[in-house]
Amino acid sequence: MKFFIDTANLNDIAEAEALGVLDGVTTNPSLMAKEGITGAANILNHYKKICDLVAGDVSAEVIATDYAGMIQQGEELAALHSQIVIKLPMIADGVKACKYFSDKGIKTNMTLIFSAGQALLAAKAGATYVSPFLGRLDDISTDGLNLISEMRLIYDNYGFKSQILAASVRNTMHVINCAKLGSDVMTGPLSSITGLLKHPLTDSGLAQFLEDYKKGN
Ligand code: E4P
Repeated sequence: MKFFIDTANLNDIAEAEALGVLDGVTTNPSLMAKEGITGAANILNHYKKICDLVAGDVSAEVIATDYAGMIQQGEELAALHSQIVIKLPMIADGVKACKYFSDKGIKTNMTLIFSAGQALLAAKAGATYVSPFLGRLDDISTDGLNLISEMRLIYDNYGFKSQILAASVRNTMHVINCAKLGSDVMTGPLSSITGLLKHPLTDSGLAQFLEDYKKGN
């Protein structure tokens, strides 16, 4: 399973990259705003900085909600850097734009996926990545993991090449359950990655090993 980090925070991205397990980055307008990155020029410049920090795919979201606007913004984003993936919302014009970019060989990420039907449409439009929002489904008492299972079944039934990008991942259990269900990718905050490191028996075991080594030296 690929690990993406879901943030526009350069320090968090650098920390995950330094761990050696990072495969890419996802961002969205809210994450940009959280870092105080506003205005088209600053946002584009920030995407370049992110691409310089990591080796993998970097999802950059269009703001337009009409087909022509999405194509124009998507082409501008794609021209920024070869690592950019165009992130498009799951609305009719987003599906059309996805097909346009897929046909041109430009990578896409269909975002705001909340149902198996939406996921099926995104795959038919040739999306590279399809992002079901696990945490937001859980937030409304709907089992987000069930959507991952449904998508895995549907994509495998027909050999769709789209990768399931489990998004809105909030914690380590989300990551582990996504891996069990065969999600291709997960994207979450730094804590969802570094949290996987932690186990008290590792810490106490290491402390004991070091103490015993000192006894013999
Ligand atoms: C996906 O690409 C989104 O950026 C993100 O995962 C949304 O997460 P949230 O529901 O925690 O805001």
